Amino acid sequence: MAGTDNAKVKELVLKCMHAREMAYCPYSRFPVGAAILTADGAIITGCNVENASFGLTVCAERTAIQRAVAEGHRKFSAIAVTCDIKDSFVGPCGACRQVLIEFGTDWVVYLTKPDGSYKETSLKELLPLAFSPAHLGH
Ligand code: THU
Repeated sequence: MAGTDNAKVKELVLKCMHAREMAYCPYSRFPVGAAILTADGAIITGCNVENASFGLTVCAERTAIQRAVAEGHRKFSAIAVTCDIKDSFVGPCGACRQVLIEFGTDWVVYLTKPDGSYKETSLKELLPLAFSPAHLGH
């Protein structure tokens, strides 16, 4: 990714894999981890947090972004996301794509397999023709 060195990407990928180990997913048994790289170089992680009232489950990506914003970050460079699926690169759910795009279209998304290999994509690619703050004049 432009402006981010390889070591930082590797760190981001490792942190999302570690975050996956924290997932609270007794119902789906589908752990997901996310790690967000902020514009100033901090890394904020998240995991999915499920609930017995299933619809209250929060995805890893949204846990991470809410933690990041609560800690004062609003500018982001990249997010790495991982789950347990070994044979393909898995993208964030549609709801998470919308939540991520609230904070700009210009960040990189690393879809990460459990072995640490990753595929680079972008929010623009994942959510074309998105509804965004610009449509509300922001
Ligand atoms: N999940 C995420 O954490 N992120 C996604 O982008 C897709 C789905 C979680 C929600 C739920 O805990 C489990 O994966 C199965 O859907």
